[in-house]
Amino acid sequence: MQRSTAKDGNEDVRRYWNQEACGTARPIVGEVPELSREWFERIEAYRYELEPFIHSVAQFTRHHGQRLLEVGVGAGTDHLQWARAGLECHGVDLTERAIEVTRARLALYGLTSHLQRIDAEILPFPDQSFDLVYSWGVIHHAEHPERIIAEIRRVLKPNGRFIGMLYGRHSLVALKLWVKYGLLRARPDRTLADVVAHHMESPGTKAYTIHEVRELYAQFSQVTATPMMTPYDRLRLPAWLTQIVPARFGWFICIQAVK
Ligand SMILES: C[S@@+](CC[C@H](N)C(=O)[O-])C[C@H]1O[C@@H](n2cnc3c(N)ncnc32)[C@H](O)[C@@H]1O
Repeated sequence: MQRSTAKDGNEDVRRYWNQEACGTARPIVGEVPELSREWFERIEAYRYELEPFIHSVAQFTRHHGQRLLEVGVGAGTDHLQWARAGLECHGVDLTERAIEVTRARLALYGLTSHLQRIDAEILPFPDQSFDLVYSWGVIHHAEHPERIIAEIRRVLKPNGRFIGMLYGRHSLVALKLWVKYGLLRARPDRTLADVVAHHMESPGTKAYTIHEVRELYAQFSQVTATPMMTPYDRLRLPAWLTQIVPARFGWFICIQAVK
């Protein structure tokens, strides 16, 4: 059953992401006019140069014709790939800005999606509505990630698939934050969870172990949680070091799960 409890626990998160859609900062887009084709193309080129593995995780074209919900569309870069691949697209995000940018982006390429600004802790869709739910780097920003995951499972059809990514706590990114905000500030007692919550993007960001990810998706079947070493882990570290660190200490945990 759909939950109907009103909540505003993600207001600080909404305020943070509403200032600027994710991945659209000035160093990425330069001086080109906002929402122009060139602006969007710079965002897209930058994203897939940095995170080329998104294509092999999402496999956009493999799901042609399916009914998709993307949770947390951000600037709509992946959402555009789903629409190009011929899925029936639905997208939600906590912020007005993300919906505005994604809508403008799809329109520019003559594509459409049903986009709504909502908090994904309550999804406004009937049970068993979607073949596929996709969410890249979103759920860990919510106050209650477990509610979003339960909602995703509810709206998936039987045998429907979830594809997504959550941040990994036992990662080089989290360790670098701890060195900067714990060790070098004479606060070595700070935990990895605490520095991530206070110094990574919106307030209260969470990061998980692989075991915790599996527990979050325990109601699903065929769950795979694959850690991935990212450019964010490698940043400012010597190549000889990052080359010998195993992928399980990477910042991204890519998830596949079946309802
Ligand atoms: C790091 S960005 C990722 C956006 C996009 N998936 C991407 O990979 O570029 C996080 C996005 O999640 C959205 N978000 C955070 N909490 C949310 C929630 N509770 N419900 C819906 N969207 C949320 C934010 O507004 C923001 O657009």
